[in-house]
Amino acid sequence: SKRNVALTLKSCTAFFSVDLPVSDCGGVSPQRCLIWGPGLDPDAVLPVRYLFIQAVGSKGENLTVSPGKDTFKVKISPLDKKEYLRVHVPPPLDRGDGSFLVRYRLYGSTVKGLKVEILHQDAAVAQSPYILRGPVYHEYCDCPESDASVWQSVLRCPTEEPQILADFESFPTVNLQHLRQEVPRRFSNRGGLVHYAVIDNRVYRRTLGKYTDFKMFSDEMLLSLTRKVRLPDVEFFINVGDWPLETRKEGAVPIFSWCGSTDTRDVVLPTYEVTHSTLETMRGVTNDLLSVQGNTGPPWANKTERAFFRGRDSREERLQLVSLSKKNPELLDAGITAWFFFRDREKEVGKAPLVGFFDFFKYKYQVNVDGTVAAYRFPYLMLGNSLVLKQDSQYYEHFYSHLKAGSHYVSVERNLLDLLEKIRWAKENDAEAEEICRAGQEAARELLQPSRLYCYYHRVLREYADRQAGRPARLADMELVPQPDDHMAACTCARDTTHRHVKDEL
Ligand SMILES: *[C@@H]1O[C@H](CO)[C@@H](O)[C@H](O)[C@H]1NC(C)=O
Ligand SMILES: *[C@@H]1O[C@H](CO)[C@@H](O)[C@H](O)[C@H]1NC(C)=O
Repeated sequence: SKRNVALTLKSCTAFFSVDLPVSDCGGVSPQRCLIWGPGLDPDAVLPVRYLFIQAVGSKGENLTVSPGKDTFKVKISPLDKKEYLRVHVPPPLDRGDGSFLVRYRLYGSTVKGLKVEILHQDAAVAQSPYILRGPVYHEYCDCPESDASVWQSVLRCPTEEPQILADFESFPTVNLQHLRQEVPRRFSNRGGLVHYAVIDNRVYRRTLGKYTDFKMFSDEMLLSLTRKVRLPDVEFFINVGDWPLETRKEGAVPIFSWCGSTDTRDVVLPTYEVTHSTLETMRGVTNDLLSVQGNTGPPWANKTERAFFRGRDSREERLQLVSLSKKNPELLDAGITAWFFFRDREKEVGKAPLVGFFDFFKYKYQVNVDGTVAAYRFPYLMLGNSLVLKQDSQYYEHFYSHLKAGSHYVSVERNLLDLLEKIRWAKENDAEAEEICRAGQEAARELLQPSRLYCYYHRVLREYADRQAGRPARLADMELVPQPDDHMAACTCARDTTHRHVKDEL
């Protein structure tokens, strides 16, 4: 067959002899390509499973520019043709650097397993087809692994998370009785707090304060986590407001927040933005952390050599950017797209039309200035292939501690006084700027992948649970947060999900 012929081809002459397009010569060598990622492991249950393809040329070299967005085709089907299973597999995302990101969402579980086929023209790529022996569970199958260490090793969770260690330094023990009194007393009128208890791997909660709608994100994540791995019994507070809360040095209480700052003691969780993006990839959201990787604009050399900013008026420095931009249009293109906080200055500063996020990457440099807290666009900017110019800030997200100014991004003084100088530096040192951009992008790809997000949440809860003094409890006014109804795709969980250590704890 055509496919078998292609498989045996190794050299350009062989390609010519079977009349394949000439452009293939020196192009992709299907067998030598590399494929890896959690999407090849049946046990790595994620909302959207994903894997990577590195295109490799005929001499065994990694391609570093795109061989074309349609280079690879992916087919995913149940091993047993009699099993009905809906699988959504969009075309692979071309990351523009010779690598591709393949995503797929399962709309049901399969008993027998899956076949993942990856083709270049009609030739099998790397070891394709990949067989994932069943059962392979989908996102909504409530089938937790009872041994957390097994689950962690499937997801290849890192053995250390420096931010988590640092956050818990202030909290060698967590006195639950004290927390139940202190947290509501000190913080319940501060916006939004959600008091959770996970007991026997079921999620319960009550809300404190007025603005707790964002609990939908923490609910969603906790439910997703408990479907995958059995959590220890644990009782904690999540702050669903913008600002971190705990300013005390003495007598501080551990509260989970989406944003940290150097002058507070909150324990940082991934932001609701990153969390929601991961859970709803290819469903409710389109500008997510995976899809941005295939939409990073023209190659570096073809980008407009100016810094770019669009955003709302949530911090005064953002207005300052616009005035810098008016005076130095050859260096900076900045605009405010929505007015709320500084309405009285709208006339003077002006309103810029919205620009689609993916179009930001037509520009070589991206300015990241805080909003009310850390700008939650930072992860997305880091995944693009532009150089990020980041305003110095006391605010941070869960992954910032892995990134270094000067290696992964370029820092800019909080008052922006050196911004123009930094842009000029980048223009004059193009190779170095590109290198920083690449290193930043590579780190962000690793740190912000869905598996790492689950690892992070789990690690925070485990570290916390280990420190609890007193017994976590479902308080009288806590309600059960039910798992979503997924009767359309019932799954049969073949794992023993009972808690092996339940007897020891009684
Ligand atoms: C090619 O790419 C793969 C995947 O990123 C990497 O592990 C490998 O080291 C690269 N090989 C070379 C020779 O650079
Ligand atoms: C980049 O610019 C070069 C030179 O101007 C041009 O030949 C090439 O087509 C451009 N590539 C893209 C992807 O825009």
